[in-house]
Amino acid sequence: MKKTENQMLVIFGASGDLTARKLIPALFNLYLAKQLPNNFVVLGVSRSDMTDDAFRKHVVYDSDYLKHKLKKLDETEVKGFADKLYYEDLGKSYDTDYKGLRKRVEELKAAHDTSGNIIYYLSTPPTLYETIAHNLADAGMNTQNNGWKRLIVEKPFGYSLETAKNLNKGLHQYFTEPQIYRIDHYLGKETVQNLLVTRFSNSIFEPLWNRNYIQHVEITNAESVGVEKRGGYYDKSGALRDMFQNHLLQIVSLVVMEPPIGDQPEEIRNEKVKALKSLRVMEDEQTLFDNTIRAQYVGSVVNGKKVKGYREEDDVDPNSTTETYAAIKFYVDNWRWHGVPFYVRTAKRMPTKVTEIVIHFKPPHHQIFKDSGMHRDNKLIIRIQPDEGILIKFGVKVPGQGFKVERANLDFYYSSLAQTYVMEAYERLLLDAMQGDATLYARADEVEAAWEFVDPILNYWQNGKDVRMYGYSAGVWGPENADELFEGDGFWRNPGENLSDDPGYCVIC
Ligand code: BG6
Repeated sequence: MKKTENQMLVIFGASGDLTARKLIPALFNLYLAKQLPNNFVVLGVSRSDMTDDAFRKHVVYDSDYLKHKLKKLDETEVKGFADKLYYEDLGKSYDTDYKGLRKRVEELKAAHDTSGNIIYYLSTPPTLYETIAHNLADAGMNTQNNGWKRLIVEKPFGYSLETAKNLNKGLHQYFTEPQIYRIDHYLGKETVQNLLVTRFSNSIFEPLWNRNYIQHVEITNAESVGVEKRGGYYDKSGALRDMFQNHLLQIVSLVVMEPPIGDQPEEIRNEKVKALKSLRVMEDEQTLFDNTIRAQYVGSVVNGKKVKGYREEDDVDPNSTTETYAAIKFYVDNWRWHGVPFYVRTAKRMPTKVTEIVIHFKPPHHQIFKDSGMHRDNKLIIRIQPDEGILIKFGVKVPGQGFKVERANLDFYYSSLAQTYVMEAYERLLLDAMQGDATLYARADEVEAAWEFVDPILNYWQNGKDVRMYGYSAGVWGPENADELFEGDGFWRNPGENLSDDPGYCVIC
């Protein structure tokens, strides 16, 4: 196990939802697993007027996200964790003099002997990232002559290529690239990391991992929930910015990348950047028309219950043209993937929550069992969530006369590793940042390469001619024409039944 040096974690936006929902529970798990350094404190910072005790009550003792866990633990153990948490009110604005904050940090550092190592976690709206970095620098809180300083920033990282570049430039004025950790919680998922292991520590997959054997690659990210209470944010973002530009392109980069020369962060990230740069950018309107589909869920009835359409959700413009479904077909311009189509979709209000990668292999070059009934391809299914695992679908002979072929499965599920504790994404990522390991964090050039691919699609959807917004009933696998993206008679693999009888297919703008 790597050693974690003594340090302090300063969370900006500490009164917000992410801190209570993800960050504190992740730290709590690390505490229970004895993974936190000996001398460690968390200083929550935001604009709410709160005492240390009120903060502890909010994120630990009264937290909905910890209540089940707390019931099973004794008081002193919980107190041991809560006592590590402190709070500092910044006043009216994040854009202020951080002298007072610096003084508090110095006091905590002296009292708890945390050393000068500090992580600043920005869990605020992205518009504040540069402001906070600037004010930290003005107060001399970014210097590394007395312990390292790291900056973790949440997504979204930029709103477009241009804004992402500006943000990188802005942050680089105050923090160097190795100090900046751009978090993408999909990279913290065990099964996403397992993609690297599946590919590069087995000899049976990699020889087939190319255009000679792979017919096409399909990636689905489906959520059964709608936009919930985040209508205000989501309506300005949409599926492409919210999920595709970051989480899904990160998965794509791990599927596409070449073997790195080693397991060091820069070796792996260099290959991911190369992979993202090799995605063929779609420039002309016809290509964009033919290869992208956007859609929005409309109201329906699921299991006898009425489900709201997207435009009826709170804080969503009733005439909104923001997509809740995005499906993109694209090619990768390099030696390995030439001519292999990739189909990637993400959506809300689907029949189930699932994220999976499906590698479809080419049929055998010469079919000898023509009447076998086995016309389907071999598939490798990598299930990211839920039922995390790997499944291979292949043909076997049906016992008896002749050569009738049936489809069989070879599978592995993480749940079968009964004794293994699988860390939550935020737990893993926080611990990595605490130890200075940036492998699972996105680098500046990686984020920009992803935006370079996404930008023309966003521009086309916003300004192009003949761009359609399709409707799909909440609870079905997207608009009826979604399969039209596929070459030949291909179609999406839908892992589950539609929940609504009415496909609700329509063109809504
Ligand atoms: C977030 C998106 O990044 O990921 C949300 O902003 C989405 O809209 C969430 O619901 C999905 O994460 P997970 O881990 O539940 O698949």
